[in-house]
Amino acid sequence: MNEQKEKRPGGLVIAIDGPAGAGKSTIASRIARKHNYLNIETGAMYRALALKAIMSDVSFDDEAGLMELAHESSIQLERRMDGNRVLLNGENISERIREKDVTDAASRVSVHPKVREWMVALQRKMGEAGGVVMEGRDIGTKVFPNADVKIFLDAAAEIRGDRRFKQQAASPEEQAKIVQEMRERDQRDRSRANSPLEAAADAIRIDSTEMTLDEVVARVEEIIAERQVVSSK
Ligand code: DC
Repeated sequence: MNEQKEKRPGGLVIAIDGPAGAGKSTIASRIARKHNYLNIETGAMYRALALKAIMSDVSFDDEAGLMELAHESSIQLERRMDGNRVLLNGENISERIREKDVTDAASRVSVHPKVREWMVALQRKMGEAGGVVMEGRDIGTKVFPNADVKIFLDAAAEIRGDRRFKQQAASPEEQAKIVQEMRERDQRDRSRANSPLEAAADAIRIDSTEMTLDEVVARVEEIIAERQVVSSK
């Protein structure tokens, strides 16, 4: 963490990576609110393109077709008092993109190298001035390899499944299925050739399996404070 970082006008770039259900979104939005930073949820951007593919009947395996859609799409994250709104060509899709068909599709469209290149360029532009908490799978490794703070947030698969289960208010019978599907998506995210989900060598790992939300936030704050001391030396 002692390497020379670029000073950005808007503040730090804080990267939070990790698998689904590790608590990234909740932690990122709390940290962003506290510092008055922008919370950039990159998963929502892959979800937006996946939704566009569903609406346009383009196959999730058709990289060229997906790129055509990408070029005609404007994906925006709009900051609101109650969290971000996701806009696709001006339309509010914040709730629709959390549905199961979009969740599965997002994991499939995100394997394509050209799709990722396009997303990464957009994400760099959104974060280059600093003052952002950006969360996803490849932020510390690919989007901002020189981010000021890099966190890799993980938790045991059963706990992550349980958290998703509660979020989705599913019936108990569906729980095992949710865990199974999450493992499959994780496996796809971790094994894809282009920018797989992995911790950057210089990321600080936090295993939230046995931690409360407040404890994780406090640990992240500690890491940010250490980083600020280093950068002011
Ligand atoms: O974080 P999420 O569940 O909203 O992400 C949706 C999908 O997008 C997930 O399958 C992984 C993928 N994704 C990615 O490949 N890279 C990112 N930076 C963010 C998400």
